[in-house]
Amino acid sequence: MTTLTTAPLAALIDRLYAQANAATSPSLNNVSREERDRLMHSKTEYVTLYTLLKDLWLPVSRDTGTLLYMLARSTKARAIVEFGTSFGLSTLFLAAALRDNGGGVLIGSEFEPSKIALAREHFVEGGVSDLIEIREGDALVSLASGLPESVDLLLLDGAKTLYGDVLKRVEKHLRPGALIVADNTNYCPEYLAHVRSPQNGYLSVPFADDIELSIRLG
Ligand SMILES: C[S@@+](CC[C@H](N)C(=O)[O-])C[C@H]1O[C@@H](n2cnc3c(N)ncnc32)[C@H](O)[C@@H]1O
Repeated sequence: MTTLTTAPLAALIDRLYAQANAATSPSLNNVSREERDRLMHSKTEYVTLYTLLKDLWLPVSRDTGTLLYMLARSTKARAIVEFGTSFGLSTLFLAAALRDNGGGVLIGSEFEPSKIALAREHFVEGGVSDLIEIREGDALVSLASGLPESVDLLLLDGAKTLYGDVLKRVEKHLRPGALIVADNTNYCPEYLAHVRSPQNGYLSVPFADDIELSIRLG
């Protein structure tokens, strides 16, 4: 039995994926595919992009969520950092692993206030709110200080062009053997070049559904 596969979390996750799949974004209707793609690649206009996307959940896939749970369990993670919390689906998978590891802390980050409010409700409903601290505002600022001395796992799932900048802020806290899971890395050539260059202290492979899985070397 695991926290992930039993009440209340299992049913909550089912319901939230149904809500995520049904969500629509009226503000996005007036934005062309080209403009959206341009914003996705921009290093400066990420607030504009994610304000347009604020009604969409954009969660990790269920398989990726399960993988996150497995990785956090197998590394016996007690301290996790998440860039990009949205409505909290990935957070729930990771918090379930913390619970089953015996406790710990997950520091999430999100700049959309309406998402943070609902995510917090989901954490209470899932019975894992005691394990989660969501930092409000731009993660470039909120994750720049006050992190646990030793971080076991980092999930990168916010603005794609900022993955390298967020990694720089968390890097000195990553313990040898810490894992970094980065979602949708087709938008992040600089990040991929960094973690795939052995002299930078990582081993890294593309994995499953557009994920990059990297390990911090000692
Ligand atoms: C792909 S979604 C995250 C999905 C979430 N990990 C899940 O699986 O449910 C990306 C989220 O990151 C947030 N975000 C993007 N850039 C950010 C930044 N610089 N600081 C804080 N939040 C950011 C967006 O508002 C959006 O909600």
